[in-house]
Amino acid sequence: MIKHDIVVVGGGLAGMRAAVEAAERGADVAIVSKMHPVRSHSGAAQGGINAALGNVGEDSPENHAFDCVKGSDYLGDQDAIEAMAEDAPRQIIWLEHRGCIFSRLPDGRIAQRPFGGAGVPRTCYSADVTGLVILHSLWEQLERFQVKVYEEFFATALCVEDGIGTGITAYNMRTGELELVQSKATIFATGGAGRVYAKTTNGYASTGDGMAICYRAGVPLMDMEFVQFHPTSLKENGVLLSEAARGEGAYLLNKDGERFMFKYAPNKGELASRDVVSRAEWTEIMEGRGVDGCVFLDLRHLGREKILERLPQIRELALDATGKDAIDTPIPILPGMHYTMGGIATDKNGATQVPGVYAAGECACVSVHGANRLGGNSLLETIVFGHRSATHAANYVKSIGEVRASERTFKSERDRLDGILARTGGERHPVARKAINKAMSDYAFIFRNESELKQGINELQQVREMAQTMTTSDKSKTFNTDLIGLLETEFLMDISMPMMAGALNRTESRGAQSRTDFPERDDVNWMKHTLMHYKGATADPEADYSRKVTVTKFQPEVRTY
Ligand code: FUM
Repeated sequence: MIKHDIVVVGGGLAGMRAAVEAAERGADVAIVSKMHPVRSHSGAAQGGINAALGNVGEDSPENHAFDCVKGSDYLGDQDAIEAMAEDAPRQIIWLEHRGCIFSRLPDGRIAQRPFGGAGVPRTCYSADVTGLVILHSLWEQLERFQVKVYEEFFATALCVEDGIGTGITAYNMRTGELELVQSKATIFATGGAGRVYAKTTNGYASTGDGMAICYRAGVPLMDMEFVQFHPTSLKENGVLLSEAARGEGAYLLNKDGERFMFKYAPNKGELASRDVVSRAEWTEIMEGRGVDGCVFLDLRHLGREKILERLPQIRELALDATGKDAIDTPIPILPGMHYTMGGIATDKNGATQVPGVYAAGECACVSVHGANRLGGNSLLETIVFGHRSATHAANYVKSIGEVRASERTFKSERDRLDGILARTGGERHPVARKAINKAMSDYAFIFRNESELKQGINELQQVREMAQTMTTSDKSKTFNTDLIGLLETEFLMDISMPMMAGALNRTESRGAQSRTDFPERDDVNWMKHTLMHYKGATADPEADYSRKVTVTKFQPEVRTY
């Protein structure tokens, strides 16, 4: 049995930030990750990280908090948003002091660029590779503190004994053996679940592992119906072209060459919040003003020098996929699944309702994004809440004695995995995954309505039946990626239903949830979060609306950009 005081599941930005904080506090901490930390999807984050440094125009944490609350369409919990905005400048300086290389203003201060829904340029950046730069800085810190990383360990279940979290079970991909990893505190930082959709900006590893594991163990998932569609994903392959392009002044054009965004957001145009821009694009496309199912991102007027200095990666990504050079050609783009605003329900310290179990980053729902996240707040969330959850967990582990090893969970997980490998006759798991992707993409896309969501639930229920007998063709143990694919598909299956059911139940339009049959926001009935409780592998989730939105100083107002 492996044993540490704190185990962080996931080696991306939230996980590494948490592990470094725990290590700095002298805790015995380790990371368990299904891949090498620097290959985590955080490395694909491009445009930047928000903090009210005020380097480009007057700013304050209060302004930042207001923009987030408005961006969230008033569903974000304002105490948590204030904590994030308040802590942001400190965390940027912390990163800078640990060697993170941010782009600079001519006077040497950290540069900040405009991003959607923000009142002032607030997004600190490293060209358009910000996630990768921070990821490598944190990896250096892990090395500095000699944090143990269990790499290619695939977490399968959360252990809960006497009502408290006592670690996880993880499949050692090299040996094919299941391991019991005991801890006094477990911090989930496993990222998002973009692979629930057919096309996404997310990496292949974004399969909602931590969300599904916590959900199965009795921790509710919160606000899963709120899925962010990023306005600029490449038509060819769904890859992200950063909002930084529009921050630097790029245009969105329809087939007539019109900058259509001012029809939808007269004050902000291309820099309205993402839900607004994605809806506008999809409306243009649906009403026949797109070309082959897409609109265009036009950078030409920015000029070669600016594109190469500030947006080199997106130029290359577009060139590789389309053969078109953004320096002299508009790039075909469309909205693509990008981010899950929902996740494991936590408080503002990352604590879940199970003592000793924490979540941070995209897998968590604190909730600082509410119904729509602002660009640049995802990287910020990883750093702020990685730090906060580790701080809290480090204090928690000092306050408790030894925890009981969970042989019970270990045995049942081992039997379950053996049972899966022994199965014959069922469908191969990619069939089930494709069906989940289809249902989510067809019925829970940008615009939703009752009849389509009901159809979506129906199709997911059928896939769920099929998923009970999914098989692998590889029956061996060592590096059985076939088995890993099946286990990931089970995770996707479990979290797709709360997404679809939450969208059906919420009879209003708010942020990224656009119901064509309920087009208005309904503050009287829906200033509350959706909590979904797991009721078993073949049962529908149980919805609970007991958690009200925390409002501190910003009363809901009409939201326009
Ligand atoms: O567009 C982007 O660079 C993405 C940023 C984000 O999701 O925060």
